[in-house]
Amino acid sequence: MYYPEELIEEIRARNDIVSVISEYVKLQRRGSSYFGLCPFHNEKSPSFSVSPDKQMYYCFGCGAGGNVFTFLQEYENYSFPEALKYLADRAGVELPKEELSQEARRQQDLKTQILNVNKMAAKYFYYQLRSENGKQAMEYLKKRELSPETMKSFGLGYANKYSNDLYLYLKKQGISDELLKESGLMNVDEKRGMYDKFWNRVIFPIMDVNNRVIGFGGRVMGDGKPKYLNSPETKVFDKSRNLYGLNVARTSRKKQFLLCEGYMDVISLHQAGFKNAVASLGTALTTQHAGLLKRYTNEVILTYDSDEAGVRAALRAIPILKAAGISARVLHMDPYKDPDEFIKALGAEAFQERIDQAQNSFLFELSILENQYNLKDPEGKTAFFEKAAEKLLEFDQELERENYIQAVAEKYRISFDSLRRMVNRQAMKGVVKKEREKDREVQKRQQTREDGGRTCQKLLLTWLIEKKGLYDRLKAYLAPSDFTDPLYREVAEKLFEQLKAGEVNPARILSAYEDTERQREVAALFNAHVELDNKHEMEKALGEAVRRILEDSIAFRTQMLDPLDMKGLQALIADKRRLEAMGNLQISLD
Ligand code: GTP
Ligand code: MN
Repeated sequence: MYYPEELIEEIRARNDIVSVISEYVKLQRRGSSYFGLCPFHNEKSPSFSVSPDKQMYYCFGCGAGGNVFTFLQEYENYSFPEALKYLADRAGVELPKEELSQEARRQQDLKTQILNVNKMAAKYFYYQLRSENGKQAMEYLKKRELSPETMKSFGLGYANKYSNDLYLYLKKQGISDELLKESGLMNVDEKRGMYDKFWNRVIFPIMDVNNRVIGFGGRVMGDGKPKYLNSPETKVFDKSRNLYGLNVARTSRKKQFLLCEGYMDVISLHQAGFKNAVASLGTALTTQHAGLLKRYTNEVILTYDSDEAGVRAALRAIPILKAAGISARVLHMDPYKDPDEFIKALGAEAFQERIDQAQNSFLFELSILENQYNLKDPEGKTAFFEKAAEKLLEFDQELERENYIQAVAEKYRISFDSLRRMVNRQAMKGVVKKEREKDREVQKRQQTREDGGRTCQKLLLTWLIEKKGLYDRLKAYLAPSDFTDPLYREVAEKLFEQLKAGEVNPARILSAYEDTERQREVAALFNAHVELDNKHEMEKALGEAVRRILEDSIAFRTQMLDPLDMKGLQALIADKRRLEAMGNLQISLD
């Protein structure tokens, strides 16, 4: 059932968020917001805030956030229509019974339409696999020992040998070329026009946490190249924010998650009963992936392939997981290449044993480091332990460090005391510390630069809704297109529109996002926070944030610029001049 946006907004506006949440959480006023103990994580002092002005909640502890709909979806586990119904009843608003007209349907936003096309395509592929056309594909999947139930639960399908049958099918269903282009399901070229992206491949639909099909992977049946073809990123498919299998894994209620490399790994693990397996899709693990995982688990077992690439991927993933507060262990698959092969050869029980024996990530890192030294040679051995001692210094907490010193001493058979002396000596060499910091700095710089940019963008969005009159002073300098993250940009567009019309309503912007994951991210954009003592500091920070956003925007556009795009080039040059002229911009908050 599709409800018009106006109605959704009316129901939202008629249910004050403070009063709704007060029915669940004890809230106390503090300044312009209310605070209470967060119902979404365990805490002793209140960091859960509800803002009557923004009509949003946000937890500074765990990052849960959203509007009144989000709250009910998260707290009561309601679907959006259920939350809507509940709040409509609560406010005495009657919901229309009839399905809406074609016209109203057409007004659904593009994302809903793309999701709809994806669903149709998924059904089509699903049906093809089970028809005469799909015989060979079915054979292939059976050869890979997938049961019919498994194929069904992952919605596996088949794209026919013809390069335009999905196109024709979707056209017959009344889908426009424009929408097909947006869906990522078609290739477009000048000579041939539009034709299917996937053909003669086994199809893996990719679902988000709410079980909606957001993209596809297609595998050749055999050794052709490329082995996998994946949907491009679209308005609904963001590879750095989705994990394959998470829709099932999130309900597995297991203490840990298994993180692996590919579709087939996830599928065969699930089939073997490990429903807590997920994979990042053909991309390295990102900070956003880690943040997503952290919502469901505190521990991840890395079940990457046992080859060199897998080891490298694990070494890269460990610090990212750690930074998100997730502890990682590494599973040893040898002598097999990946979980799929392992399970086929030794079965689920043996795999469970490997899970139980999975190696602590620090010891894993050390064991890789070890390969760079000749431990048979006294000099090499000393150098290795010095490096290890240096790494042990990374643990800031004494108890934790001691525990690790003990573990390393045991593993490499040296005495606890002598290793500890080494660690202490390294600590005293202040130089080492600096070097280490420098090392880490280099690694972190890029990430920090990116995070710094995001923080500025977030702060600005928050300030724009909190500080009246700021928009009028800023609009000469900034446009929504200056926000480099696609999600931020989209939110900025919506917010600038509201600001232009003079009615700030962040909670309404949230309603545009269906899944609570996104709502949470958007809520964070409106609840950025920095400690600033006075107005002067605040004004300085504001100027810096604007400068920074413009710098990033220019850098980003320079990178993306088509060399033939003269107009774009001119705009860039103008912006660069504007930035230079701006100097140390100070924006008054009076
Ligand atoms: P099988 O080889 O069928 O067992 O699949 P797998 O899932 O084990 O694949 P593999 O370990 O080779 O690769 C891991 C993941 O990387 C895959 O699931 C894909 O998401 C991605 N991938 C692999 N090969 C390609 C490719 O040729 N192109 C692209 N775009 N992605 C690929
Ligand atoms: Mn494989």
